[in-house]
Amino acid sequence: MAVRSIRIYGDPILREKARPVEETTAALRRLAEDMIDTMIEAEGIGLAAPQVGETVRLYVVNLGAISPELFQDRRGPSLDGDPAHLALVNPRVVKQEGAQTGDEGCLSFPDLFEKVTRPEVVRVEATDLDGRPLEIEGSGLLARVLIHELDHLEGTLFIDYLSKFRLQFLRTRLKKLKASSQAG
Ligand code: NI
Repeated sequence: MAVRSIRIYGDPILREKARPVEETTAALRRLAEDMIDTMIEAEGIGLAAPQVGETVRLYVVNLGAISPELFQDRRGPSLDGDPAHLALVNPRVVKQEGAQTGDEGCLSFPDLFEKVTRPEVVRVEATDLDGRPLEIEGSGLLARVLIHELDHLEGTLFIDYLSKFRLQFLRTRLKKLKASSQAG
């Protein structure tokens, strides 16, 4: 297990569409474990593979940071039996309902939090790291994380939901992020 460096806004890999996982291998498990270490160290609640430079359809969620009453339903195993850490392989949204507006951040945008409207309830189907089916449905923050991380696999970033006016206001901060991304 190892902490990997997180790609920052401006890195073109964050705009790529991730490819489906065709085989659950030891390398995939290692990647997921590294992503969990990386997410925990960065104090994040979710992390998608492209954020550590791997354009495959995989993301992890730190369920330990999410209040249990937001879980509507959960079926399937979790990573190595640790209920706090969930790895979703080839996830897809099968249900989204309602709307919520709240502050959202992203580990690829350090210190940037913006109001984003998301569905209130999201249900995702995926497989675990052994290819077994897994389903999770959540509301509130959990729904927000489930769909935010899925967006990463499409090359979509949370700032894409902001108004032109808001993006104009954030122009200098975003430029600085891009510059730091190119520097390191
Ligand atoms: Ni993110």
